[in-house]
Parts: sequence; C-alpha cells; structure tokens
Amino acid sequence: MNVRDRRVQYETAGLDRHDLDESPIQQWHAWYVDALEAGLPEPNAMAIASVDDDGLPDSRIVLARGVDDEGITFFGNYESAKGRQLDANPSASAVFPWLGLHRQVRVRGTVELLSSIESDAYFASRPRESQIGAWASPQSTVIDDRSELEQLVARFTAEFEGREVPRPSHWGGWLLVPETYEFWQGRPSRLHDRFRYRADLDGAWIIERLAP
Ligand SMILES: Cc1cc2nc3c(=O)[nH]c(=O)nc-3n(C[C@H](O)[C@H](O)[C@H](O)COP(=O)(O)O)c2cc1C
Repeated sequence: MNVRDRRVQYETAGLDRHDLDESPIQQWHAWYVDALEAGLPEPNAMAIASVDDDGLPDSRIVLARGVDDEGITFFGNYESAKGRQLDANPSASAVFPWLGLHRQVRVRGTVELLSSIESDAYFASRPRESQIGAWASPQSTVIDDRSELEQLVARFTAEFEGREVPRPSHWGGWLLVPETYEFWQGRPSRLHDRFRYRADLDGAWIIERLAP
C-alpha cells in the first residue's frame, strides 16, 4: 500500500486567538466535548511518551481519567516500562490525536504519583475483571504464552472470591502536571493553526501562535 501520496485537505474553520479560552484546561474541555459530539473513538485516549534509562523516548496510549487545574490523571502498573521510566525521570509529553476533527492537543510537563487515596478510589470504580487483571498481569514483562496469564487470572479470581478486590500496591495513578499545552487545528495547504500556552512566572498562561 502506498502511503507516500496519501493526502487529505483539512477544510476546517480554523482557530483564531479570540476563539481560545484563557485557560488551557477549559480549552481542552471545549475540544473534548467537540470530540465526543463528533463520535470520535476513545476521545480520552492520549499517547504519552516517557524516557528510558538510555535517554530513548518510549510512547504508548493510555486513557486520561481526569483533566483539571491540577493536571491530567491516568492509571496503570507502576512496575511496567512506563512506571519505571516515570519513576527514574518524571517528565512526559502527551498528545490527544483527535484526527477526525483534524486536531491534536500536545502537553508537556512533569509527572507525579497520585495519592493512594485517589488511586484506591479509582481502582474501586473499575469493573471486577479489570481489578483482577491488575493483580494478574506482570505488565511489560516477557511471558511464555497466554495460558500463563489465564492461570494467574484464575489464581487471583479464586483468591479474592467473595470479597472486594484490594488495589495492588504496584497499580495506581499518575498526575501529569502540564507546563505547556499546544492546540493544533489543521487548515488547507498545510498552513495549520497552532497555539501554545505556557505558564508565566506568576502562573498566568501566555498564549502564542506558532508557525505550522
Ligand atoms: C486505547 C488504549 C487504551 C489504553 N489505556 C491504557 C491505560 O489507561 N493504562 C495503561 O497502563 N495502559 C493502557 N493501554 C495499554 C498501553 O498502551 C501499553 O500497552 C501498556 O500500558 C504497557 O506500556 P509500557 O510497557 O510502556 O508500560 C491502552 C492501550 C490502548 C490502545
């Protein structure tokens, strides 16, 4: 299949400075609502990149579970590749790829662990099968075959039968605390609109247009 010559013209209304909310969080929420209303799949999915011990970037999709003034929360296994990388180097960049609207939002910042109270609360809200899965999957490690995983699921299903599944200490949330956001809107002829928010020294957001 030839991907070289595939081109889509982005016939969108564009993005002007006066369209933007002064708060990047509010702007994110406005675009998230647009993504929901447009029926985009998994509109809270973001690709998040961290850096490994060799200084090499590594990225994967996770689901954002909260976006507010504190930052962006997501959950997973603290002993996974991303967990170890974020522990050693708590910096990350993320992108929400809202391709059906010819939009992306990029975020860069630092990452911290959520409190165990917050992680417990979110874990408790997950379906039981996902809770068992958090115990059963040694995420990002090599396993022999799928039956190994199924045996672990069976073992933890039996272990927790008849009672609540507690949150394993190796599973929880992170908070990405953004230092910059960038909102990108595709336009015809690759002359896209890009606006970056960066925090001023006193914490106010400065909004700048970037060349496409
Ligand atoms: C749509 C989608 C949503 C996902 N959501 C999560 C998530 O919320 N948390 C998570 O740890 N992994 C999630 N994953 C799996 C990750 O992409 C990845 O495979 C996993 O976290 C292991 O990554 P790592 O080895 O870099 O740590 C998701 C994958 C997809 C495609």
